[in-house]
Amino acid sequence: MMKEQLLKRIEAREIICGVVGLGYVGLPLAVEKAKAGFRTIGFDVQDKKVDMVNQGYNYIGDVVDNELKELVEQGMLRGTSDFSLIGQADFIAICVPTPLDKHQEPDISYVRSSVEAISHYLKPNTMVVLESTTYPGTTEDLVKPILESNSGLKCGVDFYLGFSPERVDPGNLIYKTKNTPKVVGGIGRDATEVIAAMYRAVLEGDVCEVSSPAIAEMEKILENTYRNVNIGLINELGRLCHEMGISVWEVIDAAKTKPYGFQAFYPGPGLGGHCIPLDPYYLTWKAREYGFHTTLIENSMVINDGQPLYCVDRAMHILNRSKKAINGSKVLVLGVAYKQDIDDYRESPALKVIEELQRVGAQVDFYDPWIPEYRDNGKTIKGQESLSPKMVAGYDLVIITAAHSNVDYDMVQKNAQIIFDTKNVTKNLSCRNNIETL
Ligand SMILES: NC(=O)c1ccc[n+]([C@@H]2O[C@H](COP(=O)([O-])OP(=O)(O)OC[C@H]3O[C@@H](n4cnc5c(N)ncnc54)[C@H](O)[C@@H]3O)[C@@H](O)[C@H]2O)c1
Repeated sequence: MMKEQLLKRIEAREIICGVVGLGYVGLPLAVEKAKAGFRTIGFDVQDKKVDMVNQGYNYIGDVVDNELKELVEQGMLRGTSDFSLIGQADFIAICVPTPLDKHQEPDISYVRSSVEAISHYLKPNTMVVLESTTYPGTTEDLVKPILESNSGLKCGVDFYLGFSPERVDPGNLIYKTKNTPKVVGGIGRDATEVIAAMYRAVLEGDVCEVSSPAIAEMEKILENTYRNVNIGLINELGRLCHEMGISVWEVIDAAKTKPYGFQAFYPGPGLGGHCIPLDPYYLTWKAREYGFHTTLIENSMVINDGQPLYCVDRAMHILNRSKKAINGSKVLVLGVAYKQDIDDYRESPALKVIEELQRVGAQVDFYDPWIPEYRDNGKTIKGQESLSPKMVAGYDLVIITAAHSNVDYDMVQKNAQIIFDTKNVTKNLSCRNNIETL
């Protein structure tokens, strides 16, 4: 009965959506729901974000400014920090952070506190979906008991619950929230069906239904661990290639000509962002509960986590060849974003490179066309405002740590004393006498 009613209401666009957490994942999702004709309420604990949404002011790169503004003006989307409005929502997507704590263990406190807040206002006939990346078992073992005990409602009878991982790839110009296929695993067949129907009503991408939330949770971890392990492999191979005097970049380009069975991954200064460096830790933590050691994955994390230090070691050798010590050298770090053409520096390896350079006595500045300043340990670190030939020439070493497309690398090459390119972004420059690649 509940299922049929909800399916009809989805079809008629009568469902009111709630999106909890208005960040990189939540805001684009809220916009898509509202665009598809569902009145949407975005919840966040940060009043600043709520105010910006209500003023139609966009703060996420993947959201189109005008779309957000129009949806707010039409009354289709609004933000709030008042969780009592959860009682108005028929579909609730939870998109809160899932970071690591200082011991590199899962910090599930944001999921817990948002679910607590939801549980006090949950009404019958609601669909609840966790989208935050997490260890297998979170939806059934953590979210369900909180929702049931505080609301007095029963999962599968009074409300539906499931997991559907977010796959947003910030800065991807082809795949956005709207056209990326989605996986849905509900507690029970009916939950999966209605939650999938809700996503089908909003997204263009396929919706793949799986048999449980745990499958969907593990599937997401597999996606990101697959990247982590393959990047670990190529970082290790890159170090070996350097020892052997072989260009790892040329090796990869050659391997890529195989039309099947090989996918190219590239070395770099380390992993960054909210997903790939963190998610495998969620899995290894959970695995220990089963007396299981994910040795391959952990080895890959050791290699990737050591990559910023390896880059600084290489920088020391580069300076050494010019008879310069890193202690006291002036170093310009080009790009602090964790990947190209975005303004996100969470977990960015460039920040670890900077920290290590400073630890060994280098005088470090940075320039990033996307990030004029960043916050670190409560301090604001300001970058150089622009790049000029004179400024570039004043550094003993330039280290390229993000492959931003809006940097004039030709000018940098012509003026820099030495460049250490950890991203091979200078590969098409013909004059390379002052460039060393990772
Ligand atoms: N950013 C990505 O590229 C990406 C991609 C795929 C999956 N994910 C996953 O999606 C989840 C969210 O990531 P994000 O990048 O959007 O994070 P984010 O930090 O950009 O946004 C999270 C938002 O949740 C809000 N929040 C925190 N606690 C809250 C609470 N109790 N109630 C309401 N709001 C609360 C924060 O204020 C913030 O605005 C994470 O689990 C992440 O691993 C992220």
